[in-house]
Amino acid sequence: MVTTHANSSTTAVTTPSEALVRVTEAAAFASARAMGHGDGTRADALAVEAMRIALEEVHLSGRIVIGEGERDSAPMLYIGEDVGDPSGHRVDIAVDPLEGTDLVATGRSNAVAVMAISEPGGLLHAPDTYLEKLIVGPPAAGRINLDFPVDANLQIIADSLNRQISDLTVIVLDRERHRELITDIREAGARIKLIGDGDVVAAVSVAVAGTADHVVMGTGGAPEGVLAAAALRCLGGEIQARFQPRNYEEINRLQAMGISDYKTRILTTSDLASGKMISFSMTGVTDGELLRGVRFFGGGGRTHSLVMDLEANTIRFVDTMRIFDRDHVGPIRLTP
Ligand code: FBP
Repeated sequence: MVTTHANSSTTAVTTPSEALVRVTEAAAFASARAMGHGDGTRADALAVEAMRIALEEVHLSGRIVIGEGERDSAPMLYIGEDVGDPSGHRVDIAVDPLEGTDLVATGRSNAVAVMAISEPGGLLHAPDTYLEKLIVGPPAAGRINLDFPVDANLQIIADSLNRQISDLTVIVLDRERHRELITDIREAGARIKLIGDGDVVAAVSVAVAGTADHVVMGTGGAPEGVLAAAALRCLGGEIQARFQPRNYEEINRLQAMGISDYKTRILTTSDLASGKMISFSMTGVTDGELLRGVRFFGGGGRTHSLVMDLEANTIRFVDTMRIFDRDHVGPIRLTP
């Protein structure tokens, strides 16, 4: 159990996931103010600052294992930093205060604030490099293989969903490096959704029935892979991944971590997020298919989050109205 302090005076007791959602909501509120302002760095800084303050308020005491880069390049929420209240519940933290900085800068959809926690040691301390990823929902979990050709994996996924490959939608980051992958998917006959950014949302989306998204393929950030794995542990989906270092510095970092077989080794969902007590929270910043973005109204605002807890086996969509100025608020509309 975690103790939260609202306005640092009142005290309420919550579960870890309830504490987490307060943190991602705070980051979403802060960065949403920068929507469309053309400055992703500022949007990200607002999210980081809000998240850091909120972490102290909810009395989590954690070490950042996935965060805003190395100490020198990021003054806040850097990897290895101890954050929150030292007397609080001790956890490892993976965080992306603003996943999709460019999406917020341009007011495009699917930007989120996202965070996962586990007992210490339960989230891989992945270096800031790339991962080749194959991500599916529960029906195909345990059946796919990153080493199989694209069409073979698509057939497995189609069979698991009792449909044709042509009925599948594959999410791929719209990058030059994916040219061959996209050709292979088209030749296999599946539909493709090219996204500008945001493969954590994509990973969650394929593991939630009814989204019409079925698989994520391609290479994206390694930190995002750990966050996706934490979510997939809660949802019963699967990620298989392989490190794709971009230069010698990243190769050296992997080797320093004892990972010398990075070219061949397939990382599983549990390799990336092994914890028994994983909690995950993701709050919409801009509107998306899965989560609504932040809405402001006179004197307050409204957020929409996905909050999950592995140990408690709970998956909740949380719709929160936060009142900033009670005197200013008129009648509250309950429908979104
Ligand atoms: P940000 O959080 O920095 O905005 O990253 C967004 C993202 O699109 C991730 O979702 C993805 O894993 C990664 O960037 C891909 O990296 P790149 O833009 O270098 O291809």
